[in-house]
Amino acid sequence: MNLLITGGAGFIGSNFIRYILNKYPYYRIINLDKLTYAGNLENLRDIEANPNYAFIKGDICDEKIVDQLVSRKPDVILNFAAESHVDRSILEPQAFIKTDILGTQTLLEAAKKYSIDKYVQISTDEVYGSIKQGSFTEQSPLKPNSPYSASKAGADLMVRAYSKTYDLPVLITRSSNNFGPYQYPEKLIPLFVTNLLEDKKVPVYGDGRQVRDWLYVIDNCEGIDCVLHYGKVGEIYNIGADNERTNLEITKIILKETNRDESHIEHVKDREGHDRRYSVDSTKTKSLGWQPRYQFEEAMEKTIQWYRDNPNWWQSLKSGEYLEYYKKQYQKRMYVKDGIF
Ligand code: NAD
Ligand code: TYD
Repeated sequence: MNLLITGGAGFIGSNFIRYILNKYPYYRIINLDKLTYAGNLENLRDIEANPNYAFIKGDICDEKIVDQLVSRKPDVILNFAAESHVDRSILEPQAFIKTDILGTQTLLEAAKKYSIDKYVQISTDEVYGSIKQGSFTEQSPLKPNSPYSASKAGADLMVRAYSKTYDLPVLITRSSNNFGPYQYPEKLIPLFVTNLLEDKKVPVYGDGRQVRDWLYVIDNCEGIDCVLHYGKVGEIYNIGADNERTNLEITKIILKETNRDESHIEHVKDREGHDRRYSVDSTKTKSLGWQPRYQFEEAMEKTIQWYRDNPNWWQSLKSGEYLEYYKKQYQKRMYVKDGIF
């Protein structure tokens, strides 16, 4: 099978490419990635010489390059490419609308032109918004609250429109929060692990009681693999781990694993529009034969060990551009002390 994968130099995409080439050594993959701050060819260093893998630097909004690649008639297009960080979307929403919505539409248009057999959109549970109790199913309405989730919801609706209007064979996966190796150190788990390994403090937003359902990235790769091969065209599939933790619980696990105490916690101003809880019902994906395989504690240990073993990977990302960004964010999030003026 020939796959055109977009955003394959990012966190989930690079794990997925490695997973697919190991499981199906005869599949061929072209990876189209713009190499934004989040795209990193170091994530794929071990497979770049694989004859069944090729990398093309380019933007999914660029009709010309997308047309050139899709005209090679891949069997499947899997779109992982996105601006993916909620905090950045609050600062700069436009980049999210461009890549997440316009980029998706550019891919869909090419998929239509060349009658591609399958288009898989990698979406997120965040499109449903926040839920107090229970879990969202694939039938739940979309109520995104951040510019990131609104852009992803816009993309999902465009995928739906191409399916309904042009009969394009599409599938959508909506997974919960992933964690694992190669995750950019701006997201909660890699940021906190790497800060603590450097003996720095960790910024917990608001009261830290927000809940996320944490899914090991390989479990997500297996879920996407299952949907790709066994999913029904035109359908949406939730991929969650049924592993809900508050941010403070996650923080305490990482503190323990890195031998730090709670004096390393810094409570900072809450994120604007912060979703309280995400939760998805994955019954439909489980009915295809998938289920998460990794125990959370074991996967967290493996993940923390990976960051411990690969300081060069994250230290270079935490300097330069990232550091400037992080400083800006951090200053913005510091509480203004009571009575200061
Ligand atoms: P990431 O930010 O680590 O990687 C995104 C990749 O897309 C990068 O390699 C980047 O260079 C590339 N990219 C960005 N804009 C591009 C463009 N215009 N053209 C081509 N490439 C571009 O993101 P991730 O965490 O790996 O997420 C991958 C996908 O999974 C995203 O669509 C995201 O919305 C979705 N998702 C992520 C999570 C999570 O917890 N990380 C959970 C659910 C869904
Ligand atoms: P994040 O990893 O950004 O994923 P998302 O917002 O897409 O769920 O954040 C996970 C949770 O951790 C979210 O509730 C925000 C919180 N958080 C912090 O408390 N401090 C931080 O520095 C970051 C990055 C996130």
